[in-house]
Amino acid sequence: MTRPLIFAANWKMHHGPAETRRFAERFLALNALAENRRLWFFPAAVSIATLAEAFRARRDVAVGAQNVHWEPKGAYTGGISIPMVMEVGARLTLVGHSERRHLFGETDEQVARKTRAALAAGMTPLVCVGETLAERDGGRTEQVIVRQIGAVRQTLDPGDWARVVLAYEPVWAIGTGKNATPDDAAQIHELIRMDLGRNGVTVRFPILYGGSVNTGNVASLLTRPQIDGVLVGGASLDPDKWAELVETGSRAKVRPSGGFTSVE
Ligand code: PGA
Repeated sequence: MTRPLIFAANWKMHHGPAETRRFAERFLALNALAENRRLWFFPAAVSIATLAEAFRARRDVAVGAQNVHWEPKGAYTGGISIPMVMEVGARLTLVGHSERRHLFGETDEQVARKTRAALAAGMTPLVCVGETLAERDGGRTEQVIVRQIGAVRQTLDPGDWARVVLAYEPVWAIGTGKNATPDDAAQIHELIRMDLGRNGVTVRFPILYGGSVNTGNVASLLTRPQIDGVLVGGASLDPDKWAELVETGSRAKVRPSGGFTSVE
């Protein structure tokens, strides 16, 4: 078994159902199923059902929510629950994306609660961590990453990690056109593995890189053995560009053997 590469598209607040249908039609015409990769899509909540339906025949594709509440129901105006998004076809959810943390004030504690709730419901959480520019310039990158991961770790049993996926997304690289160098990204991925290892967690789950990934830099990032896939915003919105990025990235390297525990 080879480790599949993961190409995750975070559409943020773009593409309602009609646009999603158009995207899917075009993308399916350009992209064929390949066993050595997984394609994950995180559309707006209102487009989850449309996307799940459009890709129903593609077992390499999974659809996820961008955000969920930790409670299954209740008086949380504007909230959306895990059972709701699962009902319309989501099998994954982003948790703690930097825009949720920094624009909506989501805390480490809330990120941990959402991660736990997703796992309890049988969903795969894709937990995002990353430092801001000020934190990086202040030499606090390691401290921030360890703190963010630690908050999640404290609420999980070591065995729960078999079903988690992480993304390292430096905040200064998101939507800025400035990606972390493959060396920098690989180094942080290594730090995450070491930190979890020190705390009794065996890392047999994927760690993705995100932040200004595009067709030009995807191959150099994915040639690093520490980087198991990419989480892509801007460059995933156009079906032609996304198909090209996926193809370019897929050619980057032959994956070492050994499967992930968390990727179907
Ligand atoms: P970007 O966004 O690819 O547009 O930088 C990445 C993300 O926010 O997940």
